Amino acid sequence: MSAASHGRAGDLSVGTAVGPSAYRRGMDEPRSGGPGRPRVVVTTTASLDGRITPSRAERLLEKGVFDRWRAAWPGDVDDLHEQRRAWIEEHHAPTVTLEGSGTFVADEVESAYAPAGSAPDDDLPADHLPRRAPRWFVVVDARGRVDWTYFGDDTTALLVLVCRSTPPGYLARLREVGVGYLVVGDERVDLAMALQRLGDTLGATCVVSDGGGGLNGALLRAGLVDELHVVTFPALVGGLGTPSFVDGPPLSPGGEPTRVRPLGVVTGAGGSTWARYAVDPS
Ligand SMILES: NC(=O)c1ccc[n+]([C@@H]2O[C@H](COP(=O)([O-])OP(=O)(O)OC[C@H]3O[C@@H](n4cnc5c(N)ncnc54)[C@H](OP(=O)(O)O)[C@@H]3O)[C@@H](O)[C@H]2O)c1
Repeated sequence: MSAASHGRAGDLSVGTAVGPSAYRRGMDEPRSGGPGRPRVVVTTTASLDGRITPSRAERLLEKGVFDRWRAAWPGDVDDLHEQRRAWIEEHHAPTVTLEGSGTFVADEVESAYAPAGSAPDDDLPADHLPRRAPRWFVVVDARGRVDWTYFGDDTTALLVLVCRSTPPGYLARLREVGVGYLVVGDERVDLAMALQRLGDTLGATCVVSDGGGGLNGALLRAGLVDELHVVTFPALVGGLGTPSFVDGPPLSPGGEPTRVRPLGVVTGAGGSTWARYAVDPS
């Protein structure tokens, strides 16, 4: 892909970060997000048609799926990932990575801790924060579907975002295995409240959301995305219903697309790109 084909030759160049004006503008982006909450930076790796996994039924964490996905990458994708990681680290110093439950379990999976007919517990335990760490791996899981075998390490603590309707048995299980959680919302995780609490409780000034289209779509519709970094590799997946990097609820009739402000593109030797955008408050 040539710089000229984008029609913004000043901002786009092969193998270098970005044109000077866009780069300066990017440098000036504030570190935090909207009032009282951390900045939200969405990162994703997508095929040319915006797909983020081979099919709805396959998650990249499953054995064999990621290898098949990665086999379609030219050799430049790892380098673009590293450039993106380094850029975000230098400019935003994020301490929180955010994921959705869909990265870990299939759509049809139900909580093993929610017996049929069980009512929400009015004595639902409050936030639980058994330990702190310099970095946090935070997962939205209101339905209590992910049965964790990874609990973090010395550098990174696992933290689950739940709500008042999360099965109490699941919260008990998190306590049993020493995993922290924040109760944010009633029927679902309230993402705006969750971000506010990640700022207040963990001191986070930037959250990198590395989730799938469901989480990204919910963040977008809630007006909570500040910046978007898309690594696109030259392959097509296709398929109606194949997850894309922004899914979630469709625009309501007459709704307008969210405009984004291009900040720059790096094109790798194999034709993959790392494109950076700001999402300005509407
Ligand atoms: N290529 C990549 O860069 C990349 C990155 C990540 C994932 N993936 C792939 O993407 C697929 C998963 O995508 P997905 O869309 O199924 O899963 P997802 O992005 O994890 O979406 C579901 C998550 O969003 C939450 N959510 C949705 N709407 C919400 C709302 N209105 N308010 C609060 N929370 C809301 C759900 O919460 P509850 O759980 O509380 O219901 C759940 O945690 C997998 O195949 C994975 O491998 C690819």
